[in-house]
Amino acid sequence: RLLVEIEPMDFQSIVVQFSGTGNSLWVARSVADAFSEQLIPMSEYLLKDTLKQPFFSLSERESVGFVFPVHSWGVPPLVKDFIRRVRFDSHESPLIYAIFTCGDECGYTGRMFQHLLAERGWKSRHIYALQMPNSYIVFPGFDVDDKALEEKKKRRAKEKLPSLIRAIADDEPADCYITGSMPFLKSKVIYPLFCKYALNSRPFYATDDCIACSLCASQCPTANITLIDKKPRWERNCTQCLACIHHCPVRAIEYGKTTQKKGRYTFR
Ligand SMILES: Cc1cc2nc3c(=O)[nH]c(=O)nc-3n(C[C@H](O)[C@H](O)[C@H](O)COP(=O)(O)O)c2cc1C
Repeated sequence: RLLVEIEPMDFQSIVVQFSGTGNSLWVARSVADAFSEQLIPMSEYLLKDTLKQPFFSLSERESVGFVFPVHSWGVPPLVKDFIRRVRFDSHESPLIYAIFTCGDECGYTGRMFQHLLAERGWKSRHIYALQMPNSYIVFPGFDVDDKALEEKKKRRAKEKLPSLIRAIADDEPADCYITGSMPFLKSKVIYPLFCKYALNSRPFYATDDCIACSLCASQCPTANITLIDKKPRWERNCTQCLACIHHCPVRAIEYGKTTQKKGRYTFR
């Protein structure tokens, strides 16, 4: 994997992450490695019945880092759910920072994240963003980046990440948040529509090319795929991360007609 070269640091922080195609996982892993700390998948904690209210014990100096992709210029619904449920002991206001990964721009995701934290009486000290290869392919007009842009974004992210990790350890801001154009329209109008209508798994299907490898099911962070005769069937708990579509090794998964001519991407 693309290794980020950085000296381990004396900074304590658990890192909670959510990722569909691996970009945010790579970022979160790099941060956790630098701090020799624990990496926590938000989705797993939401799936365990006994842990519907995820609970973490923090030491006094320990921060909490949130790393996740921007979805439709907002906070992915799964992350919203996690923020509403999670509890941290011994901290009335845990030290929080966040790194968002986005294909292009974040809109008001930062504000949205702060609002969600404020509902819990918390505040993120810093919000950082990193552009990474795009994973959104469902809507007409959106596709993965071409190979050259994909490599460029990964190279740039690899160069930038060490300075972000240093900024986290030094409790400093970094000028890297990309709001982009028309944030009100994107985050306040389109994002609510995305949450209401786009988390629909009904258009997913596997073509005859499916080799019944079950990778789609094992990659799904919400365990939304059941295997019937080893072929995927999508249930109703989709968060639209598109992990299933992108991870399929034989390109046998489609979402209606819109993805048929689109590219596929996973971080590697
Ligand atoms: C449902 C969905 C919505 C997305 N919306 C945005 C967006 O609003 N702005 C953006 O720049 N990238 C957007 N993207 C691209 C991802 O944020 C970006 O590729 C991210 O790095 C993927 O992270 P992951 O590999 O950890 O899932 C979207 C991707 C998905 C799957």
